[in-house]
Amino acid sequence: MNGARDILRLLKIGDNKWDVKNYNYSAIVKNLSGNDIDVIKALDNIGDGELSAIGIIIQHQDLVRNYKPRELAKDFYESVMYGFCMINYEEMRHGFILKELASLANTNKSFIDQVDGDLLHELMFETNELYKNPYESLMSYLLGEITNVELYASIERHVENEDLRNIVKSIKKDEQTHKGAWLKIIKRIVDSNEIHRENFIKATKAIHFIHQAEVSDYFKNGALSVEKYFTPSVSKFIVEEKYKLLSDIFGESPIDKKQMLIEHLEYFNKSFVA
Ligand SMILES: [Fe+2]
Ligand SMILES: [Fe+2]
Repeated sequence: MNGARDILRLLKIGDNKWDVKNYNYSAIVKNLSGNDIDVIKALDNIGDGELSAIGIIIQHQDLVRNYKPRELAKDFYESVMYGFCMINYEEMRHGFILKELASLANTNKSFIDQVDGDLLHELMFETNELYKNPYESLMSYLLGEITNVELYASIERHVENEDLRNIVKSIKKDEQTHKGAWLKIIKRIVDSNEIHRENFIKATKAIHFIHQAEVSDYFKNGALSVEKYFTPSVSKFIVEEKYKLLSDIFGESPIDKKQMLIEHLEYFNKSFVA
């Protein structure tokens, strides 16, 4: 059974940027240069990472549902609704679009017409359990979006074809919106209650170097395949952005900037050598 295309149609996963009729990229892929074909082939695993975002939203819902006491758990209502109604929707289309482009480049066949429950079930439910509470999953989401924005910005600079560049740019714009939304949501919770503030500081220290897409084991492959787009200046900028954002949320960042850069590099070296 394959219902992915029906789901895209039924949910009308499109808006002014993404007409639902435009999940057909054959014509674009046919016109791409060798450089751009290499770019979209490298995005296959990133597409898995995008789809696994649904997995972390499911985890976040479960973490909130089971969090005690209820007086604290109820304050996560915004992140639950935003995650469920918007993030699932937008990360799902990012995943389908990137996987579709990669599949057309690799096999000349449509991913959307072939995918079945096997991969999607794995990405949604058979995910690692990296986060102990909803503070950790939410903070990881926000910090992960920073990496996403800079990755797509870097890819945009490498792409030659205008249609492909517009696709990447549209995904980047979604990620920028997600980053702004998670920031607002977290800041409101932090400012509402001292216990929330302390719990978010603890969560930040525990997970600030974990990317949200790591709920799926595809993360390392994805990060490896786009490694060349993470130039030293892009990595430095990601750390600076994270530091700025944490300072904005807490008044003072719970983690030193230099320490953050060292951990970032050590973590990536360790993950990618393994
Ligand atoms: Fe995304
Ligand atoms: Fe996102």
